[in-house]
Amino acid sequence: MEATDKLPFEDYLGKHDEQTWVKTLDLIHSDIHQIDRDATQIWFSFWPLKLAQLLDTEKNLENTFKKFQLDGNPQLREQVNESVKFLFGARFWVPVKKAVLAYSKENLDPKALRLEQHILKLSHQIGNQLNIETKLLVGIVAISLMILSQVGFASLKKVEDQLIDIESTDSPDKVLKSREVNRGLKSILGWKAKTHQVVFDEQNSGVFFEAADGQDLSMASNGDKRDFRSEDSRKVAGPIPAQCRSGACGYCWIGVLAGQKNLSKVTDFEKSRLEYFGYKNLENSAKEHPVIRLACQSKCYGKVSITVPPWNGVLNFES
Ligand code: FES
Repeated sequence: MEATDKLPFEDYLGKHDEQTWVKTLDLIHSDIHQIDRDATQIWFSFWPLKLAQLLDTEKNLENTFKKFQLDGNPQLREQVNESVKFLFGARFWVPVKKAVLAYSKENLDPKALRLEQHILKLSHQIGNQLNIETKLLVGIVAISLMILSQVGFASLKKVEDQLIDIESTDSPDKVLKSREVNRGLKSILGWKAKTHQVVFDEQNSGVFFEAADGQDLSMASNGDKRDFRSEDSRKVAGPIPAQCRSGACGYCWIGVLAGQKNLSKVTDFEKSRLEYFGYKNLENSAKEHPVIRLACQSKCYGKVSITVPPWNGVLNFES
């Protein structure tokens, strides 16, 4: 967040606290296409306002990392494009960025609308321009406004034309179908599959590992011997970072995009650890199968699609 020369729209966004954003997400929940409903919740859990505020206000980053046990890269400004890659709406990311930047320049009296009205209005405008369903844009537009609020106009402008490397051109229906359990002949004959696919980048093919039935996701990730360390030094044992495998370290938090019910129910212990680390499930916290989990506490009983945040830490300083 830049301290000076803010546009009125940036000022307006900056006046919305975490709670208001969460309430706004509730209000637009049913306006978001099913394909990105959980993904939007996950993005807002991965990139809380309090993290951006912490990194913006603390002078000594090294101390901040120590104090909040941060590891990986928690700087949204450095990974604006990468942060949205797991959303279906990411394939519209360049026009969304352009429209948001233009909208924030034009909008001299943003207070005339509430935050959810701005999100829906912009989504509708971009939908008309691209000739696509508005619902496909609501999640990514809400995220783009939060990104604008956190990194500022100038930082978003810098990456305005940058595309995201996404291989899949599948329709939303096809992606939703591919998320369903597919056990082929074994399923037809009623046999229980012995292993399940854990997809960790559904925008690209072949990006999955196998989990044995009942195996926790962290141990299953350990079985994937490809090199992930060169992309993220925390990934020493497969694509999911892990240290303790007992709920103690907080390295293994993930977002579950699909197949939440194919994981074991969240236990009171896991809930208490998520709370300790400050990893918030923004939907109903009473849910047995939330979208934010600790991989080492989540046993796999069917196909799941997950996404891994680029940082971990202990951000429970508000509680
Ligand atoms: S690996 Fe430490 S909390 Fe899961």
